[in-house]
Amino acid sequence: MKHLLSINDLNVEEITKILDRANYHAKVNRQVNKKQPQLSGRTLINLFVETSTRTLISFELAALRLSMDVINMNVEKSSITVKGESLADTVMTLNAMHPDFIVIRHNVSGQVQELAGYMDCSVINAGDGTNEHPSQALVDAAAIRNSLGKIAGLNIAICGDILHSRVAHSNINMFTRLGAQVRVIAPKAFLPGDDSLREKKVEVFTDMKQGLKDVDVIMMLRVQKERMEASEVPSEKQFHADYGLTKEKLKIARPGAKVMAPGPINRGVEIDSDVADDRSRSLILEQVEIGVSVRQAILEHLLA
Ligand code: CP
Repeated sequence: MKHLLSINDLNVEEITKILDRANYHAKVNRQVNKKQPQLSGRTLINLFVETSTRTLISFELAALRLSMDVINMNVEKSSITVKGESLADTVMTLNAMHPDFIVIRHNVSGQVQELAGYMDCSVINAGDGTNEHPSQALVDAAAIRNSLGKIAGLNIAICGDILHSRVAHSNINMFTRLGAQVRVIAPKAFLPGDDSLREKKVEVFTDMKQGLKDVDVIMMLRVQKERMEASEVPSEKQFHADYGLTKEKLKIARPGAKVMAPGPINRGVEIDSDVADDRSRSLILEQVEIGVSVRQAILEHLLA
């Protein structure tokens, strides 16, 4: 069984194939009847130890639209919380019921990779701590390609809390391999303290106005307070002044530059409502829409 634990599990050819297939599903998903038979008889279990709206619902919808059986495990009412069963015992138990996929989200980096070692079904990483969120990276690539027609050669800025963002980590690894020039814009406190960005040829800006010059895509990340000590959380007002995307700051980017966010967004902090809701510039809802189709393509790819 193939897993999707990191975006680096996929080569460029596989990424392209998934994006192409997602566009086929996107057309079907706009029809009245969205159900297709491809994965009938297969089973997917969603095991989300950390909260989610987009990723959980879109994996569920993706599986249902391919005629799969889907179980969303209620972690709060499971033997993990009530009876103290370990996560390893939990996944071995689920695996013994012969699912084809277990989609796992966990707040600890590396936890999904470790759990995959206990299972012989396909494991999909739906986000582990600050480490990786590979299906979100594919969603973002699909949204950009569909909007701007390409990824190679684009200047893509990822702005905000880079340090704690698994989306940033997966996207940097993917977009650089797809031929984009990636830059990050963040305060020093939200940048990695090592040379990892320089090694990946990612440009680093601490001044947002400088960092926005000549960019084609601006991806806004929220401040991930849940991964910080209270003393590390910046004032929302100051963060908005320095790193919030406003209509004025958007004018610095290339004309027609697209705005993205993996969500959830904090309006008035990292992004203003009049930017987020401007459908001529913002791809936020396009990301959500293509998210279901991309996850359908991922499920098919892993079983192929
Ligand atoms: N982008 C993302 O992972 O959103 P959720 O936390 O709502 O799944």
